[in-house]
Amino acid sequence: MPLIRETIVITTGRDGRAHIAPLGLIAEGDDWIIAPFRPSATLDNLETVPFATASHTDDVRVFAGCLTSRRDWPTVDANVVPVQRLADALTHMELAVTDVTADPQRPRFRCRVVLTVQHAPFQGFNRAQAAVVEAAILVSRLNMLPRDRIERELAILQSAVEKTAGLVELEAWSWLMDKVTAHYAV
Ligand SMILES: Cc1cc2nc3c(=O)[nH]c(=O)nc-3n(C[C@H](O)[C@H](O)[C@H](O)COP(=O)(O)O)c2cc1C
Repeated sequence: MPLIRETIVITTGRDGRAHIAPLGLIAEGDDWIIAPFRPSATLDNLETVPFATASHTDDVRVFAGCLTSRRDWPTVDANVVPVQRLADALTHMELAVTDVTADPQRPRFRCRVVLTVQHAPFQGFNRAQAAVVEAAILVSRLNMLPRDRIERELAILQSAVEKTAGLVELEAWSWLMDKVTAHYAV
């Protein structure tokens, strides 16, 4: 299995607007693969404007927020590519699409790293941050995975949140749990 790094990918729409989505970037040599499942605004944007930024952040509210209709995170222009990046990124990469592997379900956009910039120090690991990212992935698959598996995995993740979360992680966790509750209430 290849290395996959969970990032906040920003692309530019036909109308020039920034689109933010958490996506796992797949390592391939010095390049990164962006592989969105159809349908996807990220995919449509990459076909129109073949550039992206990947912002690395330890504010897991961005991951949880994008999955719970809170996509309005501050962004600023990237240095080189015609795309925005997260304003509060610890580091960000600027990516140019060099190759596209067509696929009816999940095309692969191979990206070359044009620039990497560091903005702020990484403060260290926190188990609740990892738990929120995992829970956000589960929430993105609520329509695909069986309810008992979702609830079993969330229960394990909840323990890490209860033991180690700060206020930021608690807020992100609450957004995700509200969405899970609402999903199963209908
Ligand atoms: C950590 C994380 C990684 C994800 N990785 C992917 C991915 O590689 N491909 C994908 O299609 N969706 C992925 N998702 C789900 C997308 O973020 C979500 O479906 C998103 O809305 C993409 O659709 P969009 O491009 O229309 O915004 C991931 C979600 C999370 C929280």
